[in-house]
Amino acid sequence: MKKDTVTIQPDSWLVSAGRPLEMGSPLNVPLMPASNFVIGEGREYSRDDGTPTWEALEAILGGLEGGNSVAFSSGMAAIAAVFDQLAASSLVALPDDCYQGVAGLSIAGAENGRWRVKRIGVEDTAGWIEACAVADLVWLESPSNPLLTVADLPTICAAPRKSGSILAVDNTFATPLNQRPLDFGADISVQSATKFIGGHSDLLAGVATTKNDALFHKLRKARELTGATPGTLEAFLAVRGARTLAIRLERAQQSAMKLAEQLEKHPLVKCVRYPGLPSHATYDVAKRVLNGFGTIISFDLDGSVEFADKICRSTELISHATSLGAVESTIERRAAIPGQEHLPPALLRISVGIENADDLINDLKTAIEKARG
Ligand SMILES: Cc1ncc(COP(=O)(O)O)c(C=O)c1O
Repeated sequence: MKKDTVTIQPDSWLVSAGRPLEMGSPLNVPLMPASNFVIGEGREYSRDDGTPTWEALEAILGGLEGGNSVAFSSGMAAIAAVFDQLAASSLVALPDDCYQGVAGLSIAGAENGRWRVKRIGVEDTAGWIEACAVADLVWLESPSNPLLTVADLPTICAAPRKSGSILAVDNTFATPLNQRPLDFGADISVQSATKFIGGHSDLLAGVATTKNDALFHKLRKARELTGATPGTLEAFLAVRGARTLAIRLERAQQSAMKLAEQLEKHPLVKCVRYPGLPSHATYDVAKRVLNGFGTIISFDLDGSVEFADKICRSTELISHATSLGAVESTIERRAAIPGQEHLPPALLRISVGIENADDLINDLKTAIEKARG
């Protein structure tokens, strides 16, 4: 990554990118609530032309992923803008395990006759390679939500693709610090900035990034036409959050490793899914592809759904809440959410935050004891 004259690492980029440069300007990009601007040579209307606050977020994320970013009102808005690029009757290749919102969008579009969908196992590299040759949109999510299966993105992205097709990766779980899909050859990388980028569970935002100029302009046009623009405060907070992403991620993923190892030894836990555990189905791929194993752990209990629900209600430090990637740890039973029927019913997903790792381990162990009664 290049500042004016020096090459810097991604953690320094996160702190320094997207700042105003003019002499006398504030160090931080101002929160600029503006719909319209005085007509002249520059921007006129923010839905079409953006604002400096959104552009700071785009500059940070674009540089981090190695492309140009378009910021949206949410991760789903960014994802919908990618799906909007499809012509009628297109074929979408979609992972068998992925964020339920994307699965829902795909199913709804298929039911309306907008496209056809083929589901492929995240770990089925040969299946993805075949799909690349015929699909109009190859949609990957890795590590996947919530089973944390890691796709062999370098191999899949290098496979020959149908002419005019798009290969997009939902990079939310990895963040651009752990994985840079555009470097592997993906056309678009998407982040739900609601998660790790914002990092404090206080905003909704999304970002799509591409090296391809034509796609960049199409994504901006999709934002303009659908009005899926980021909120000003949300963009400001996402920039604020991005400044600390590297240290938050480093701390939380160290704790996640410790917690996963402890869970694996627990007699009431049947299976722990964490890409950093040698027992994980795609551990070898994860080691090769990811720079870090992330902060999300899923585990199946040797017990009932009621037992799993009781654990969620019994933790005191870990909040019983959905979402992920924030400073505070959260736990939830994912199969409780409609559209997640493929999951083991008692599977719990934890997003590890930046609390003390031993406190998290104690909280979870105590909650399991309490729930067992
Ligand atoms: C992997 C993944 N992608 C996309 C989204 C959607 O993001 P948003 O809630 O910002 O629309 C989520 C939300 O949980 C997610 O987990």
